[in-house]
Amino acid sequence: MNKTTKTTTKKTTTKKVAITKKILFVASEAQPFCATGGLADVCGSLPKEIKKEDPSIDIRTIIPLYSNIPNCFRKDFKFLGHIYVTLSWRKEYCGVFEYDHEGIKYYFVDNEKYFKRENGEYGYFDDAERFAFFSKSVIDVLPIIDFMPDIIHVNDWQAALIPTYLKVAGYPEEYQRIKTILNIHNIQYQGRYGSQILGDVLGIDEKYRSILDQDGDVNILKGAIVTADKVITVSPTYAEEIKTVEHSNGLSSIVNANAGKLIGILNGLDYDFYNPATDKVIYTNFDVDHMEGKKKNKELLQKEFGLEVNPDKPIIAFCSRINVLKGFDLVKSCIEKLVTELDIQVVGVGSGDREYVDFFTYLNNKYPKNVHVSLGFSLEIGKKIYSGADIYIMPSLTEPCGLSQLVASRYGVVPIVRETGGLKDTIKDFGCLGGGNGYTFTNPVVGDLEYSIRRAVADYRDPKGWAEKVRTVMTLDFSWNKTAKQYLEAYNNL
Ligand code: GLC
Repeated sequence: MNKTTKTTTKKTTTKKVAITKKILFVASEAQPFCATGGLADVCGSLPKEIKKEDPSIDIRTIIPLYSNIPNCFRKDFKFLGHIYVTLSWRKEYCGVFEYDHEGIKYYFVDNEKYFKRENGEYGYFDDAERFAFFSKSVIDVLPIIDFMPDIIHVNDWQAALIPTYLKVAGYPEEYQRIKTILNIHNIQYQGRYGSQILGDVLGIDEKYRSILDQDGDVNILKGAIVTADKVITVSPTYAEEIKTVEHSNGLSSIVNANAGKLIGILNGLDYDFYNPATDKVIYTNFDVDHMEGKKKNKELLQKEFGLEVNPDKPIIAFCSRINVLKGFDLVKSCIEKLVTELDIQVVGVGSGDREYVDFFTYLNNKYPKNVHVSLGFSLEIGKKIYSGADIYIMPSLTEPCGLSQLVASRYGVVPIVRETGGLKDTIKDFGCLGGGNGYTFTNPVVGDLEYSIRRAVADYRDPKGWAEKVRTVMTLDFSWNKTAKQYLEAYNNL
């Protein structure tokens, strides 16, 4: 019996799987190399989950070689070669490096003029040129990486020129056969620029202007919605919402005209990266059956943040960009009142808009024993917050998927969310028929957020009932198990 098992194991590990499909996954950020938000989480985990689901798919990822990609990875990069990429009148150096990580082959596009920058990945005057270069390079380096994909799967506007270039930039027949998928992680960001960039920067002929034109501007994301073979957003509700004026940031008519190729697939969470039982970053590990660790984490978080150390005070938390779209107008309008009226503490981490940064600086100074918001993004502080907090607030006005409510649940922090996009698809109110897994409200108004926080705090005061709620949220499955398959279906249906 033992012998047979052994032989079988050996066979499966040494067996070469015949490749049925080749996918090139293109992104402007991916964990663990570089990250500014949820995009990196998804781009770092989806390819390996797809591969896990179907090992016959050869899926590889390509990203820019930013200067902030840590040396611990770089030192093992393999240089594959270089070419010169034509972008309008420019001829730019483009080197390619290769690196294997968690079973996925990664490629890095190197050009120091574009990617060796001081202040992170985005936000430069020449972003259109930087990401046009990146997109053109991805197509032009295929011979160097020796990989002619069946599908190129691009993410967000930074990679969205690829489907358009494949159609209009005069590539030979074999490139025309490549199918393309555009993933929209957030339609608020479109890569919209002045009309003059079409020829001079993107190097696209005037006769194709209508593909990218939006009210006289060049809109890179719009071009891809038109030229890609399939468009995927990161939750089913968001796929419906971006057909509306309210959520589409000016693109609703284009989305509706292309609705036939649009689907919504819910993001999953990387359950290895976000695992309170093994997470090296948090103070103490814990799981649903060993919650002493969570109590300890709360105490240590209160200590580290200089708050009153008190196990009975509920900690309300957020780890988020701090801006209007994330609902911080609502938070700002009620949180001070709640801190003074209810016996609660508020902790948070994130970077954001001046108005809110000033507001939280004021709260930190006025209520040092009860409020500590760490300004500036830090994943480490974020994870410590998840590990010790009790209630998570996410009152977004619009939220394509949202990952924080999933991380919060996994770390035993009960979420309060506004019913929009992926928040609506993942969190149901405890009052729902059949039971729920959080507190939800429909309208983006202060009173409704305030009421939800009051409800959660009142429930927290009943320790037995609360422990049940925490158990409920911690035992849900938000991994890619359920949804990676839907990506496979999308690949197969192309
Ligand atoms: C963007 C969206 C967020 C989504 C993430 C990953 O950051 O704003 O809702 O979860 O992308 O798809």
